[in-house]
Amino acid sequence: MIPGPRITVLGTGYLGATHAVCMAELGFDVVGMDVDEAKIAKLASGEVPFFEPGLPELLAKNLDTGRLRFTTSYDEAAAHGDVHFVCVGTPSKPGEMAADLSYVDAVMDGLLPRLSRPCLVVGKSTVPAGTAARLAERIAQEAPAGVELAWNPEFLREGFAIEDTLTPDRLVFGVASAEAEATLRSVYAPIIDAGAPVVVMGFATAELAKVAANAFLATKISFINAMAEVCEATGADVTLLSKALSYDDRIGGRFLNAGLGFGGGCLPKDMRAFMARAGELGVDQALSFLREVDAINLRRRARMVDLAAELVGGSFGGMRVAVLGAAFKPDSDDIRDSPALDVAATIQRRGAAVCVYDPAAMDNAKRDYPTLGYRDSALEAAKGADLVLHLTEWAEFREMDPEALGSVVSSRQIVDGRNALDPELWRAAGWVYRALGRP
Ligand SMILES: NC(=O)c1ccc[n+]([C@@H]2O[C@H](COP(=O)([O-])OP(=O)(O)OC[C@H]3O[C@@H](n4cnc5c(N)ncnc54)[C@H](O)[C@@H]3O)[C@@H](O)[C@H]2O)c1
Repeated sequence: MIPGPRITVLGTGYLGATHAVCMAELGFDVVGMDVDEAKIAKLASGEVPFFEPGLPELLAKNLDTGRLRFTTSYDEAAAHGDVHFVCVGTPSKPGEMAADLSYVDAVMDGLLPRLSRPCLVVGKSTVPAGTAARLAERIAQEAPAGVELAWNPEFLREGFAIEDTLTPDRLVFGVASAEAEATLRSVYAPIIDAGAPVVVMGFATAELAKVAANAFLATKISFINAMAEVCEATGADVTLLSKALSYDDRIGGRFLNAGLGFGGGCLPKDMRAFMARAGELGVDQALSFLREVDAINLRRRARMVDLAAELVGGSFGGMRVAVLGAAFKPDSDDIRDSPALDVAATIQRRGAAVCVYDPAAMDNAKRDYPTLGYRDSALEAAKGADLVLHLTEWAEFREMDPEALGSVVSSRQIVDGRNALDPELWRAAGWVYRALGRP
């Protein structure tokens, strides 16, 4: 164990579990705390309750060292930590665009009255600008002297969570004192020493650094998807358009792949919460373009359903449709706001028998979409299908053999919702290949 602050991580979901494991990997003495007893029991026994490549191995390794423990006890968390990372969820409020901060406040309710010595409470959850200032006020009133707040937004990507945590492309420290900055620098010392840039700022800028990044990425995806709409009207090919744009290093090729658009537990809800907060701040006009970004994104799902309908002759009644992919993106089992499942459910409502297969997200999909059909492999899902929809870009699907899949379907028709398959290969195998934004 390295000498240094003792760390707690409050909320051990995708972000918190990864953060706790990585902090232990850096050598710190870490306690992960969550109110979900089943989740804590799994983590404590070495099982990661979600899909994240490499995390099960790193969890097991660090449990073995004795540096990493899990608890449901606020008392234990409060007593342990010199630095408390807050990693609870900030979903949309039911039926609203604004963020639901009740979990963040619940952590403060649980933690602050139990603190008995100076420590740093560090927010990592994505929150609307102004939240940290309000929480700092709460800490000043409810916690003992010497307890301080910092905001350290997290930029990790599911599927690359360990890499992004241990070698982030930047660290953002929202602080109100030099002491808080020094504490954060001591926690992240190995990462900073390895070259990660640190940008130090106030609370509001740190909060904005996260939501602005997500708004930009969503805008970039919707930009190329808007171009895909234009391509569809002109006979142009959005994949070649995107390639041509990508060589311009002012633009770059990342997040410039046209397709079914974005989903997940972050981009859509963060963008909507950002708009809601801008409205409260009286600057809603500044972000009105994000409404269009959201609308373009949702139109891709509608376009996918229309294209599928066209291929089955206009009506889904009596048709069998295979859906490849349920997670919102590959290398994840996260199905929050998943475009794939949204499309699958819509097509089923319109009369098709839908069979879904995903390499990792089957349990989550079955829980939230119990009426869809599920099969244990792509070949099983495609058996007898009149149409195959490729909706999440798993490597397993990119590498599918068109001949093998063709031998089980009833009709060789595929829509590539991710522009990830090779049209020539599929057409050569006798498939009708269609994609978004391409002839
Ligand atoms: N998932 C990502 O890729 C990612 C990336 C960057 C930022 N974020 C942000 O991180 C935050 C967490 O996201 P997530 O995806 O890990 O969510 P999640 O739903 O997977 O995890 C949240 C966890 O918090 C726990 N929790 C709720 N109330 C609690 C309480 N009072 N005390 C302790 N634990 C409590 C829940 O049981 C759950 O395990 C969000 O603000 C999100 O926007 C997520």
